Amino acid sequence: MDVAALMRPRKLCLCKGVSREDIARVVRGGVRSFAELVQKTQATTGCGTCIDEVYAAFCQERASCEVTDQQQLPL
Ligand code: FES
Repeated sequence: MDVAALMRPRKLCLCKGVSREDIARVVRGGVRSFAELVQKTQATTGCGTCIDEVYAAFCQERASCEVTDQQQLPL
């Protein structure tokens, strides 16, 4: 069980207060890579436990993901 995932029903990234809607808005605004999303929202830059959920939301909003996106993760 992913306890961290259960603790963030409204915000995908609790440390930086980033919601699913925030991610959707940024992608609609033209963000094309995960690194750019992180730069604009600061999501995943705290404890980092949200990275899977944030990346999945990014992929769903873009309707695709590229392997190169994952290689740019700031971890
Ligand atoms: S919950 Fe996103 S960095 Fe901590």
